[in-house]
Amino acid sequence: MLAPGGRTPVKNLFGKLADGTEIHSWSLENGGTRLKVLSYGGIVQSLEIPDRHGRHANVSLGFDTIEDYVAGSPYFGALIGRYGNRIGDGRFTLDGEACQVGVNDGVNSLHGGAEGFDSRVWDVEPFTAGSDVGLYLYRTSADGEMGYPGTLKVKVTYTLTEHGDWRIDYEATTDKVTVVNLTSHVYWNLAGESGGTIHDHELRIDASHFTPVDSGLIPTGELAEVAGTPFDFRRTKTVGEDIRVAHQQLLYAKGFDHNWVLDKGVTAEPVAVATLRDPSSGRAMTVSTTEPGMQFYSGNFLDATLVGTGGTVYRQGDGLCLETQHFPDSPNKPSFPSTVLRPGQVYRTTTVHSFEH
Ligand code: BGC
Repeated sequence: MLAPGGRTPVKNLFGKLADGTEIHSWSLENGGTRLKVLSYGGIVQSLEIPDRHGRHANVSLGFDTIEDYVAGSPYFGALIGRYGNRIGDGRFTLDGEACQVGVNDGVNSLHGGAEGFDSRVWDVEPFTAGSDVGLYLYRTSADGEMGYPGTLKVKVTYTLTEHGDWRIDYEATTDKVTVVNLTSHVYWNLAGESGGTIHDHELRIDASHFTPVDSGLIPTGELAEVAGTPFDFRRTKTVGEDIRVAHQQLLYAKGFDHNWVLDKGVTAEPVAVATLRDPSSGRAMTVSTTEPGMQFYSGNFLDATLVGTGGTVYRQGDGLCLETQHFPDSPNKPSFPSTVLRPGQVYRTTTVHSFEH
């Protein structure tokens, strides 16, 4: 039995790729949350939640047309793979074998290379289970795709619970030793996707350390204490409070674009690690994850060149990402938690977004 507010996912034609491939959108709703997902990139095209007065708004940045996504999206709402965030020079060694993966961010590899999972077509199947509704997204990434070894079979489950939580379960298997680091790249603006800056949003991150980066945003390997730096979000503060502090790390990234080392580490079950709140609307979101890290990216590279779903221009800081993950460049950092996946093993991680209003 579906809880009140739960609805079987509805499929619509969203558009077509240049080669004629049909891209569908799937609309689902449960517990007051409305989600629209594309078969292209597993993209969350819109995610609506109510404010303190029950008024829904789309709190996820995105586009209206498939053409806009294809023309160049900074990963709006997308599923990221095979490797979330950066790998230095796109190079690493696995069991003594040298691997070179797609370089698409200066000399580095970002989010799986030029044609990562965000721009691939996924097979989507709807489901209802008890009071949950959701989608299974499937994709097989061929051995050698973007330079990554092994045939990677991926299943991602998007679930909307009766409480309106959005849960993501990632699963993958390989037939050769490889590295995997999957995440989701929703840009949040809890005031609504055209609500202007997120600098007034309040954020808490349960992390005493972060991974400092070099000028190419590759971790140095150090785990630095957040205490006494702009990176200390252990006590709730606004995103904007310290974003203009003249700290070398903020200069490198033009704001926050770093991996926080979550105090809880890798866990079997999702543990709450961050809360984001927009005081103006009363909308709030708690992120829980099994992952050891989270990239908090304050939308630094949004530069007023893209027009979003609501018809407004996205400017720097109009959305922020909280990407649960293993640490960037782990394949080159033996001291970081491992991202290696071997045949016979199953990669499994979970992240839950719970909304309050
Ligand atoms: C990265 C940013 C990058 C952005 C792409 C984020 O996950 O950390 O450095 O610019 O994705 O839009």
